Amino acid sequence: MALFLLGLVLTIASAQVFNPKEVVRKNYNMARVSGVWFSISMASDNLTRIEENGDLRVFVRSIEHLKNSSLKFNFHFMVQGECVDVIMVCEKRKDGEYSVTYEGENKVLVSETDYRLYITFYMQNIRNNTQTRVLALYGRIPQLTSPFLERFRKICKRYGMSPENIIYLADQETGSPFSSSGKQDPKGTSACSDSFLGDD
Ligand SMILES: *[C@@H]1O[C@H](CO)[C@@H](O)[C@H](O)[C@H]1NC(C)=O
Ligand SMILES: *[C@@H]1O[C@H](CO)[C@@H](O)[C@H](O)[C@H]1NC(C)=O
Ligand SMILES: *[C@@H]1O[C@H](CO)[C@@H](O)[C@H](O)[C@H]1NC(C)=O
Repeated sequence: MALFLLGLVLTIASAQVFNPKEVVRKNYNMARVSGVWFSISMASDNLTRIEENGDLRVFVRSIEHLKNSSLKFNFHFMVQGECVDVIMVCEKRKDGEYSVTYEGENKVLVSETDYRLYITFYMQNIRNNTQTRVLALYGRIPQLTSPFLERFRKICKRYGMSPENIIYLADQETGSPFSSSGKQDPKGTSACSDSFLGDD
């Protein structure tokens, strides 16, 4: 029994190891990006837009690679404690590059992924002639280990963003059935988990 449990713990731990050899940064197979994702972290050169009540503070639920090569994002965000769903269909421009109109014009690029555990997106938003740059780290599971967060910090740095530009979202998923905080916001929980479960 002890051995079995140890084996299980090791399996779970090793399954979450960041493996640089698995990182893909071009020639993406976007079909492999389809499926459930969780928002882990975000960064922006304008924090106002990703902090609480920010228009770009969106939590991912799933991504779907469509037959016509578009990428469909299923997001939710919180408005006055209520969970609101948004669907965003991004049109393919080239390998790993998409565009979509949402709170302005957006260019969305896959920065890198291992398909298995994480994906990082880079987004340029232009609204009223003002450019805002955003990076997002999504995980296949609600939390990622620190090597993934460290990797995200490095990517942010490459885009000229310091740790002060980064916010952590993984325990902010108010109402997610996988919420780790254990805090019970009855209203938020039902609002979010209902639509979450209704997803498939
Ligand atoms: C940051 O975003 C806020 C909210 O959209 C906006 O009012 C402000 O002008 C932006 N700041 C910069 C420097 O773009
Ligand atoms: C691709 O298909 C989706 C869903 O049917 C649609 O919303 C989108 O406009 C299509 N995009 C293109 C470029 O045809
Ligand atoms: C964008 O510019 C228009 C016209 O100048 C203004 O009415 C509007 O409030 C601006 N929107 C934002 C989000 O700054």
